[in-house]
Amino acid sequence: MKIIFASGNKGKIVEVRKLLSDLGIEIIALPDLEDAPEIIEDADTFEGNAKIKAKVVFDKYKLPVIADDSGLSVEQLGGAPGIYSARFAGEGCTYEDNNRKLLEELKNYPEPHRAKFICHAVFYDGKDFVNSVGELKGEIVHEYRGIRGFGYDPIFRPEGYDRNLAELTLEEKNKISHRGKAFRGLKEKLESLIDYN
Ligand code: IMP
Repeated sequence: MKIIFASGNKGKIVEVRKLLSDLGIEIIALPDLEDAPEIIEDADTFEGNAKIKAKVVFDKYKLPVIADDSGLSVEQLGGAPGIYSARFAGEGCTYEDNNRKLLEELKNYPEPHRAKFICHAVFYDGKDFVNSVGELKGEIVHEYRGIRGFGYDPIFRPEGYDRNLAELTLEEKNKISHRGKAFRGLKEKLESLIDYN
């Protein structure tokens, strides 16, 4: 059986391949496809955007699709950057641009800067959506640490840890992360629905 993971984000693809590795199915990500469609994420929720990604990709390839939409929600910024996490510093910005902008916006607020990552994962087979959500609580810190992961990982410290997310191994991150929780939940729901053979 083949499933498409509707993402071009290299960091996410590495994590999701690992999270789904025990299913024994072939996971195709968007960079593996020559003619991957352009996806316009114009919903105003993580769930809405995850469903747009899944539907656009299913409609093109007619294969079961898994998609996720995720982001960072910072309490002192009223939940921003939220669904705009990827382009917080503007279209075409880098992770470093986003991190710099976030720390700049937080510099006049007292620490701790409580924050959480949210991931909404969906499976879509052309008929029904299966949904699963995961969260990781922690805080934004001003000291960049670690070179692993992606996005806001170097400045995010998970609750109960003395290391930033970018200092954790892939296995350690997947065990506690929003994406790890969402995809484990999705797998549990799918196990009862799908015959992987
Ligand atoms: P998406 O690909 O549209 O879901 O955008 C996700 C964006 O949220 C990424 O580009 C990152 O900026 C941020 N993000 C989501 N998950 C993570 C994570 O696990 N670590 C760091 N940043 C993340």
